[in-house]
Amino acid sequence: MIAEGKIVEIRERASIVEVISDHLTLKKMGRNYLGLCPFHSEKTPSFTVNEEKGIFHCFGCGVGGNVFHFLMQYEHLTFPEAVEQVGKRYGIAVERLDRPKAGRDGEEKESLYHLNERAAAYFHEMLFGRPEGKRALEYLKGRGVEERVARNFYLGYAPQSGQGLVAFLKKEGLSLKHAVRLGLLSERGPQHYGEKFFDRIIFPIANAAGKVVGFGGRVIAQGLPKYLNSAETPLFRKGANLYGLFQAKEAIREVDRLVVVEGYLDVLALFQFGISYAVATLGTALTPDQVRILGRYTKNIVALFDGDEAGRKAAARSFEIFIEGGLLGRAAFLPQGEDPDTYVRSRGREVLETVVDQAIPLADYSFTWLEEKYGKSIEGKSEIAQEIRRLLAKVRNPFEMDLLARRAVDSLGIREELLRPPSPAPSGQGRSLRPEESSKATATQGQEDLVERSLVSLMLRFPSVIQNVEREGDIEQLVSPMWNQVIQKILSEWGERGELNGAGMAQRFPPAQASQIAALMLEGENMPEEESERMVEDCLSHLRRRYLRGLEKDLRQAIRVAEEKRDEITKKERMLEWQEVVRRERQLERQRFTSKTEIR
Ligand code: UTP
Ligand code: MN
Repeated sequence: MIAEGKIVEIRERASIVEVISDHLTLKKMGRNYLGLCPFHSEKTPSFTVNEEKGIFHCFGCGVGGNVFHFLMQYEHLTFPEAVEQVGKRYGIAVERLDRPKAGRDGEEKESLYHLNERAAAYFHEMLFGRPEGKRALEYLKGRGVEERVARNFYLGYAPQSGQGLVAFLKKEGLSLKHAVRLGLLSERGPQHYGEKFFDRIIFPIANAAGKVVGFGGRVIAQGLPKYLNSAETPLFRKGANLYGLFQAKEAIREVDRLVVVEGYLDVLALFQFGISYAVATLGTALTPDQVRILGRYTKNIVALFDGDEAGRKAAARSFEIFIEGGLLGRAAFLPQGEDPDTYVRSRGREVLETVVDQAIPLADYSFTWLEEKYGKSIEGKSEIAQEIRRLLAKVRNPFEMDLLARRAVDSLGIREELLRPPSPAPSGQGRSLRPEESSKATATQGQEDLVERSLVSLMLRFPSVIQNVEREGDIEQLVSPMWNQVIQKILSEWGERGELNGAGMAQRFPPAQASQIAALMLEGENMPEEESERMVEDCLSHLRRRYLRGLEKDLRQAIRVAEEKRDEITKKERMLEWQEVVRRERQLERQRFTSKTEIR
């Protein structure tokens, strides 16, 4: 059972075009989007999606409905599962009365990981150990992929018959239902399963800890779609994983730089030519989540784009994505018609590394792009100023914001006051944003700290809740720098190893803090696991509310000051911000209310 309000919220928030595009390619045609129907076989597209109405319909076979119906049919989900999945994609948590207990959830996840790993082993064996794989091996050879590279990335082959995986999983005693949940099989009838991948080269996609979360499959030579990717599953989100990260992370740390490219084969080619610090997005544009993940390994990230119009547009758009992910980022461009794979093969490592070295800061790129787009007229400049102001408001580090504002002043000749986002900017570091923290520190600290303590205890005790914290994204705004440091260490330990080893964790801290960490781990000992997720959500929502209260108070103060100075402009701006904060506070209250009435 999910509350009706929640269902509506998620449906309204979701873009049906985005969700369906996770699974198939859609092209815009007038008011609609068209694609090849996944539910029947067709050569000309009659599968129609309408964003405004939020529906899809296939004129060929008659299927249709809203975003939830699509997922129910495409991924064989129940209605609540579909709602949950869409909610998850948009960061909206769904509370369910009938949700399986966290413990079982964890176990189930483990067996899903295991299944993926066995499937990868099967594909790998088909490629290297069986005659069926010969064509695929030859194709790879023809593309110049060396065997050591193919092995390092554990490439595989899904044979043409499309029944081998089913037989293999049965033989291993693995659950076919689980394979359906992982998108490897689809249920075609009672006891009848179809395989998602056949006659494709398989690229297993691993998380940072090296566990297989999904697969990409490329046709051999011609065919459509060129690549098929795992759908979103309990283990796999396209926007929160990166191809090759597991293989690249050591090198990234070592050379303290990272290149983001678009394709599986680009990562392979770069690796083969000694550029082992490259990762790829998974068929979608880079997301803030991905930037955040990469930022744990290095701050020095270059996104490599095609030199064509689409590449230039993508670069301009990615500035905001980097900022939202907490980094500035740089962009480098390849000549038209080249991708990293073709380019490194024809020109070699050094030329490619020179291109990467010459990357331009995305901020500069984006400012220039805006100027080209809006022009130098007064109206144009005012548009640009507004846009930059909006972007700068998202920069969390006050020094970076300062730097960027000044750079915009220099390069665009716009008055700095017009660019500065409203000052108590949510920076979290440096400036004190929460007056109650400084002025009433002694009175509230003990109690306030309690929430942080519980949160960290929960993370240490039940690593499965770490993703809830990760999803929060802005945790550094919500807690003091000290606690943020602790949380960041937990996140990176978890991201790197996929587990939290008590001793290993403690090692990451200076001795005085290490004992505190140990204490926190023990404090968590008695917490009930079934409640862990809810408790974490409670902690987070408490922290969010505290943060907004602080912000609100600061703004009230700023409004008073502006009033005294008779500074109408500032006053108006602060009022608007204040309204926004109050709106968010109300929204949080409402969420709290609905989730409470629903679960208890
Ligand atoms: P490209 O079309 O640039 O392919 O897609 P590629 O990586 O250069 O591969 P080759 O060289 O043609 O073999 C870039 C990435 O976009 C995603 C894949 O992740 C691919 O690696 N993609 C592309 C899809 O998900 N589906 C597609 O149909 C095509
Ligand atoms: Mn290519």
